[in-house]
Amino acid sequence: MAVFSPTINVMTAAARKAARGLLRDFGEVEQLQVSVKGPGDFVSQADHKAEKMLRVELGKARPGFGFLMEESGETTGDGRHRWIVDPLDGTTNFLHGFPHFAISIALEREGELVAAVIYEPVHDEMFWAEKGSGAYVNDRRMRVSARKTLPDTLIGTGIPFRERGDHPAYLKGLAAVMAATSGVRRAGAASLDLAYVAAGRLDGFWEFGLQPWDIAAGILLVREAGGRVTDIAGGHDMLATGNVLAANPHLHLPLGSLLKEAGRKE
Ligand code: IPD
Ligand code: CA
Repeated sequence: MAVFSPTINVMTAAARKAARGLLRDFGEVEQLQVSVKGPGDFVSQADHKAEKMLRVELGKARPGFGFLMEESGETTGDGRHRWIVDPLDGTTNFLHGFPHFAISIALEREGELVAAVIYEPVHDEMFWAEKGSGAYVNDRRMRVSARKTLPDTLIGTGIPFRERGDHPAYLKGLAAVMAATSGVRRAGAASLDLAYVAAGRLDGFWEFGLQPWDIAAGILLVREAGGRVTDIAGGHDMLATGNVLAANPHLHLPLGSLLKEAGRKE
């Protein structure tokens, strides 16, 4: 039976509270006023409301902690603890009424990810993990999949859009993965892609150009579920590079080699 620590309790309670507003707004998505915030990055009213609520709830419970939030950026705290928050991951899905989005909250202590919550309110799935204590969905333990060979696998990705990213380079990697696996999915919320790797629903996931709030919580979930996460080159500074390759331990190397090899092809 999963035991929620005080930290996880604070995080899940904040996520549930903010998600109530998101779900209400999702029901009225057509009436939402939206503004454009830079290339391809729509920001909804719901997004801002959720972020405000998360900041208030997390700040109330842990007054000294700093924040890195998608909408309001960095707020310095005690210099040891930092919440990394995406109040609405899957914004484009949300705006289109596509029911796949989440709230993502990670806690960093002394620069190390120590707790993670990703809440997907449509199916009421609370993914959470604490360093050294395993990963869970609601009160069930999660493990990455056991598949060992690429032809059996289902792989998640994020496809660059509009002017974001290097489209021709991305397409080489996609072609290689398409040819080697059972299928590729682009569901539209990087936090949930990582949570799905942790849950064994996807065998692997890769994407370039992500932000720390898209991936911080998901990285800990995958690790605590027994998976591996690096950047595409095999380095460990994913929050800085924004490039992520996550997979079960059997597939991390073959998937990484496939992508690197494809990148080298003319
Ligand atoms: C986006 C989603 C998407 C990924 C984009 C992110 P947002 O976050 O995680 O899956 O492909 O790169 O920006 O804008 O919905 O919070
Ligand atoms: Ca995001």
